[in-house]
Amino acid sequence: ALAAAGPPEHVGVATIAHRGAMGHAPENTMAAFELGVEMGSDLVEADVQRSKDGVLVLVHDTTLTRTTDVEEVFPDRAPWRVGDFTYAEMQRLDAGSWFSEEHAGEPVPTMADMVQRLRRSRAGILMEVKSPALYPGIEQQVADELAGFPGYLTSAVRSKRLVVQSFDWASMARYHEIQPSVPVGLLGRPAEQLLPELSTWADQINPSFRSFDAAYVDAVHDAGMEVHTYTVNERADMHLVLDRGVDGVITNVPDVLEDVLAER
Ligand code: G3P
Ligand code: CA
Repeated sequence: ALAAAGPPEHVGVATIAHRGAMGHAPENTMAAFELGVEMGSDLVEADVQRSKDGVLVLVHDTTLTRTTDVEEVFPDRAPWRVGDFTYAEMQRLDAGSWFSEEHAGEPVPTMADMVQRLRRSRAGILMEVKSPALYPGIEQQVADELAGFPGYLTSAVRSKRLVVQSFDWASMARYHEIQPSVPVGLLGRPAEQLLPELSTWADQINPSFRSFDAAYVDAVHDAGMEVHTYTVNERADMHLVLDRGVDGVITNVPDVLEDVLAER
């Protein structure tokens, strides 16, 4: 846990709000990120992609259909890929109504919006570079934007409040070359024999909670890396992964995770 002031109650296991607290608010919106912070999460996870005109935006799917009203606003733009819309066009979309009326009008945020809002909060950021093969050069762009906030990178790294992750390990290798000070997470479950080599540049192995056991956690630790597992939403599963010795838990319901950690 990474509290800004005073010792955290459960030192050792990081709580991570998945796409924001997406069990309670529309994923990858400022409302969900802020709720993640309010619920005491150590880190807030988000998915970064790129608009047609080069703006880094936070959206999970590679199309805008599931989480916005894009089909109503732009009916003739099938298949509504993120990278086919300019940022100005995306600003006309409602990324909240699909989740609940209460969140109507929530905009698609940029990565810069999120960093700006969270940088002075107690929570850090777990930024997932989503489908980077669709966005050549996105690693350099993420690095440049993070470095563009005066003083942010140094303090975020020092206080363990920034990690960049992806399912695309080659993308993370490129990112590490560009910005080696920022810890890198590899989503998925690399074979144990790959761990020593990966540990020369990666810091976290972040597997699905269904894909590993306690021996695998030990192997990752022996290689000098951490395990942050996704997406753990049931209390019994939270206990299961905590028993395996993970370092971080990514969840849609960070309030439930805080409760489970408090009762252990
Ligand atoms: O942070 C882990 C998790 O976000 C990876 O899966 O599909 O939710 O981006 P996904
Ligand atoms: Ca993600």
